[in-house]
Amino acid sequence: MPITAACFVGARPNFMKIAPILRVLRQDRRFTTLFVHTGQHYDYAMSEVFLRDLGLPPPDALFEVGSGSHAAQTAKVITAAEAFFNRHHPQWAVVVGDVNSTLGVALAASKLGVRVAHVEAGLRSFDRRMPEEINRIVTDHLSQLLLASCPEAVENLEREGVDRSRVRLVGNVMIDSLVHLLPKARQAQPWRNYELEPKSFVIITAHRPENVDNRLQLRRLVEILEQVAARLPVLLPLHPRTRQRLQEAGALARLQSLPALHLTEPLGYLEFLGLLDACTAALTDSGGLQEETTYLGVPCLTMRENTERPITVEVGTNTLTGLDPGLVLSCLDQVLAGTYKQGVIPPLWDGKAASRIVTALARSR
Ligand code: UD1
Repeated sequence: MPITAACFVGARPNFMKIAPILRVLRQDRRFTTLFVHTGQHYDYAMSEVFLRDLGLPPPDALFEVGSGSHAAQTAKVITAAEAFFNRHHPQWAVVVGDVNSTLGVALAASKLGVRVAHVEAGLRSFDRRMPEEINRIVTDHLSQLLLASCPEAVENLEREGVDRSRVRLVGNVMIDSLVHLLPKARQAQPWRNYELEPKSFVIITAHRPENVDNRLQLRRLVEILEQVAARLPVLLPLHPRTRQRLQEAGALARLQSLPALHLTEPLGYLEFLGLLDACTAALTDSGGLQEETTYLGVPCLTMRENTERPITVEVGTNTLTGLDPGLVLSCLDQVLAGTYKQGVIPPLWDGKAASRIVTALARSR
């Protein structure tokens, strides 16, 4: 009897993590695979373009949970996932990352006796003001199989008393997608769409509630955007949350009028990867970007006070700047002067994490 594994996605950062796992699972006769989208992200630019770019199949089930408060959104995921499990009875629920969908699916699964495999287990920012930190901790403690991307994650889980026999160090599966699609992303030369030259522009992304929902922080972010754009062309793909907050604060029109600032809709995976590979530096508050830039050797300035991905600071190209314009600009000066640190790629970020994940799933029957 094949093992049925249901693989779940919900929000943008999930798609690039599930795609390689699904590809390997579907070629493995030991498994029957189901692919489920909770619909946490539903816009074309936040979801569909990623399914297309990553070669993901149409989902076998779509929950259409949409936006809402944390409680409302998570509750809808739990209810829909419970009905799905009662209908399909998979042996495994494979969840990735730390979004509300990850937590909702893990809760429904664990109460019905469906085994949970959590990909990207053990990451900790040690900051419980972040909803993602709560999602990570609870999901890990509901999981039978904890698949970690780096040694620190394994240590975090051991410290929390998770049974070591459930934990596997498998490497970073998001890098599998990057390795797979980088040649195609480069070939498209997407910088041309914005009349930019390689290694002569900065990419900025910001969407974390702590940076954009608070007016004071948002003002500091706008100041940083203006100061960086005064030095180098800037590409700013706007997350819907950020666009809304900038508009409410009356700052959107001002940013749109800056000639060096290219403001766009959220970009697809391939286009964004091609641009990230070609940029001078990235300035971000995203989790995934800290890892992608470390792999690509691109300087990354992270506008947060902490990170659940410290390996990118310790051995990679990442620096935590917070929303400190002085620190951002001095790091950028180092990048432009060629004195910014050079990073190395962490072990097991090699494009083969999905195979190790599927082996772990098959062995933990
Ligand atoms: C979610 C994740 C976050 C991840 C981010 C990536 C949680 C707790 N957070 O945050 O970890 O980094 O996704 O994007 O799960 N919206 C749209 N179209 C969409 C989706 C959302 O317009 O397709 C709007 C919503 O209406 C809302 C805002 O964007 O106003 C935030 O969406 P939500 O899914 O609640 O959280 P994110 O901030 O995207």
